[in-house]
Amino acid sequence: MQYRVAIVGATGAVGQELLRVLEQRRFPIRSLRLLASERSVGKTLMFHGEPLPVEVLRPDSFAGIEIAFFSAGGARSKEFVPVAVQAGAIVIDNSSAFRMDPEVPLVIPEINPDALRCHRGIIANPNCSTIIMLMALEPLRRLARIRRIVVSTYQAASGAGAQAMQELLDATHAYLHGEPFEPKVLPHPYAFNLFSHNSPIGDDGYNEEERKMILETRKIWGDSEVAVSPTCVRVPVLRAHCESILAELEIRPPLEAIYEAYRAFAGVRLVDDRVRNYFPMPIEATGQDEVLVGRIRYDSGSPNGVALFACGDQLRKGAALNAVQIAEQLIHA
Ligand SMILES: NC(=O)c1ccc[n+]([C@@H]2O[C@H](COP(=O)([O-])OP(=O)(O)OC[C@H]3O[C@@H](n4cnc5c(N)ncnc54)[C@H](OP(=O)(O)O)[C@@H]3O)[C@@H](O)[C@H]2O)c1
Repeated sequence: MQYRVAIVGATGAVGQELLRVLEQRRFPIRSLRLLASERSVGKTLMFHGEPLPVEVLRPDSFAGIEIAFFSAGGARSKEFVPVAVQAGAIVIDNSSAFRMDPEVPLVIPEINPDALRCHRGIIANPNCSTIIMLMALEPLRRLARIRRIVVSTYQAASGAGAQAMQELLDATHAYLHGEPFEPKVLPHPYAFNLFSHNSPIGDDGYNEEERKMILETRKIWGDSEVAVSPTCVRVPVLRAHCESILAELEIRPPLEAIYEAYRAFAGVRLVDDRVRNYFPMPIEATGQDEVLVGRIRYDSGSPNGVALFACGDQLRKGAALNAVQIAEQLIHA
């Protein structure tokens, strides 16, 4: 069976990665409709060697569509996801608009595929930092319950979209040539700098990205008790987020069992060579489907703590790949 598919936000960083992932995984597509804003009128994007026109997103864009991937921001999702569902499409939404809606499954296929069973037309793709963290922790969680997570992120420009990636390139060029540069997309100078994540901060001192990691972890794990202490930071890396993670478990599994669990878990690759001081790096995670995990060690400051360092391409596993894997689960169910 082949499906009539739409991508909303096809010209964006996630949208373009969706095109690549659908092509590479040979997703069974009968027709593909590419949707974006008025700004993209006249553009074409290549799919399986053919140019496809980009159309303007409108309420009637979803006639005949069976699967719609949304990655055009929360406001577009709030407005058009119900329209797409009404037209008969199943929507996989990359924005945060529906993630915490109790009626909407929030799914990482390797972790909570059963949640897909109760969807009502919308499935939410989790936040990219959350996906990478939970993929990196899943082998440990299969050995013992995780009670608490302390995580610091090192987030790439791509997480803020195609324009932020361009701003990092432009700012770096200007810096190297001694030219003035006024940031337009991100709030602070980005070249040779880093700053606290550029999402709004609440009264409790946590920014929105950190809050997503806390709440989404509880929902995906179905564990309202798990404590998550995140600090999210934007670093001048083009693509692929890193995370330094300390997990406190209920018991302390043997180190060999931990390594074995990582070797056995599809979707994660162990990169952990102490002799060569060789561990996960964003440059090696870029374009990869797997989340790289290394620096695995017992925490020196807590009896059942395990520390590790993870790195994943958030445009792939953190967004497009996870969304396509959800669609694959749905069509094979
Ligand atoms: N980047 C990530 O790693 C990541 C990870 C997970 C989730 N997400 C989520 O995915 C979504 C897209 O992120 P992105 O990084 O791909 O952003 P992006 O590169 O800025 O792309 C935004 C896309 O949305 C489209 N768009 C904007 N306004 C529109 C409108 N009024 N009508 C129709 N289309 C409109 C843009 O079309 P034009 O080109 O025509 O402007 C473009 O295709 C966001 O909700 C984001 O939170 C991103």
